[in-house]
Amino acid sequence: MTHRVYIHTVGCQMNVLDSEMVIADLKRHGYTVVDTPQEADCVLYNTCSVREHAEEKIYSALGKIRESKKANPDKLIGVMGCMAQKDQEIIFKRAPYVDMVVGPGQLHAIPELLTKIRDGEGRQMAVSLGRKDDKQAVVARSHETFDPLRDPSMRPTPFQAYLRIQIGCDKFCTYCVVPNTRGPEQGRVPQQIVSEARLLAEQGCREITLLGQTVNSYKYNADGETTDMTSLLEMLHEVDGIERIKFVTNYPKDMTERLLIAVRDLPKVSPYLHVPAQSGSDVVLKRMKRGYTIAEYMEMFERIEHILPDAAVSSDFIVGFCGETEEDFQQSIDLIERCRFKNSFIFQYSVRPGTKASERLQDDVPREVKADRNHRLLDVQNRIAKEENAKLVGQDVQVLVEGPSKKADQSDPDAMVLQMTGRTHCDRIVVFDGNRRQAGQMLDVHVDDVSSHTLIGRVKTVDVVSIGL
Ligand code: SAH
Ligand code: SF4
Ligand code: F3S
Repeated sequence: MTHRVYIHTVGCQMNVLDSEMVIADLKRHGYTVVDTPQEADCVLYNTCSVREHAEEKIYSALGKIRESKKANPDKLIGVMGCMAQKDQEIIFKRAPYVDMVVGPGQLHAIPELLTKIRDGEGRQMAVSLGRKDDKQAVVARSHETFDPLRDPSMRPTPFQAYLRIQIGCDKFCTYCVVPNTRGPEQGRVPQQIVSEARLLAEQGCREITLLGQTVNSYKYNADGETTDMTSLLEMLHEVDGIERIKFVTNYPKDMTERLLIAVRDLPKVSPYLHVPAQSGSDVVLKRMKRGYTIAEYMEMFERIEHILPDAAVSSDFIVGFCGETEEDFQQSIDLIERCRFKNSFIFQYSVRPGTKASERLQDDVPREVKADRNHRLLDVQNRIAKEENAKLVGQDVQVLVEGPSKKADQSDPDAMVLQMTGRTHCDRIVVFDGNRRQAGQMLDVHVDDVSSHTLIGRVKTVDVVSIGL
């Protein structure tokens, strides 16, 4: 009998990738994927704990699925990912009808755990993520068997894929739950990464995005030799079929000159760097234990500007962190004004149990003040993004076409012209009038207009006169 699985994914790119792999694994075990939880006999939630809101959404989805579990007790409900790791037994307490809780280090065990539940062995939990050496090896082995499982049908597009190069995080920023949910930082074996990139290319993938919490800190040591991010990029650059290589998320202190020179000299590597600053204030950065001052961040930023003058740089900011004053916040505004980021993701601080900040610092910025600072910072960032985008008006950009845009009128499947969307090498979103067949192609688009998030253009057609025909 074939089982029908439905998966609901929230959180970061790591989770999107994990869901792709869990589905690839389950398909190998005879499962088929369905589009709604109602049709499924197994419903999986791939969860995130980075902010409280992300968790509440999952608990509320679990509340909703309860009725359908009552009507059909054989329907298996699984919670996987970061919240599974963080909450463990709490999930069974809050939602007693959940059958399975699996952390990010045990995802390879899901098919077996589901079989055990069906065989009457009761609910299952697999969540160990110890920081001791032997436990690290277990998690790394899990990824070795698991990461190469790829399923193009689960990707946003078949020609773009994520590729994990680093597991976990050791930075322990005081606000952040990720080192607890994803375990210790470990670089994956470079040869395995390269062979996975080859597999992706064979599946028709043209763009890969390398994933790690501090991706540019990537290191792998074996036989007295160290492979760092720069060497890894050089190796991946050789993979035929892969035309663009992006990587997220970067840690400011590890943005070396050597790495920036590689980004400049390897044409497939995108001139796009996501390097979150988190705050513009030294006092706040210290309380966050980010490990750099604004002077050091600016030194890094100037290094980027010097080596890669045309690169797009983006950031993350947390507003309303413990003790953040209006003056501290003003310094975040100043930093955006100085760096003129392509975009910034802005988050209101959310206390996470188990983090240093939750134990030692007071969450003393009122909710309304956080919301107000969020809006103000976003306004500044959006204005700057639009001004920066405006510089591209009149220029041609190379776009990897992803598919019809969200706004495209798709009511007529035979429509000849519809709005398509894609991204430039430096990760800017572009929309233009085109057709479905262009998806997956690399096209030159002439930019006519911009907003803060989008370039609006038209496809360059071959100029018949200028080539003398
Ligand atoms: N490893 C990445 C980011 C991981 S989490 C890095 O170091 O940049 C993604 C973003 O969520 C972070 O950059 C941060 O801006 C935000 N974030 C993390 N913990 C948070 C919290 N407790 N409250 C609000 N935002 C948070
Ligand atoms: Fe969290 Fe800091 Fe690690 Fe990023 S570097 S995942 S913010 S602890
Ligand atoms: Fe969330 Fe885990 Fe990613 S906490 S942001 S899903 S690493």
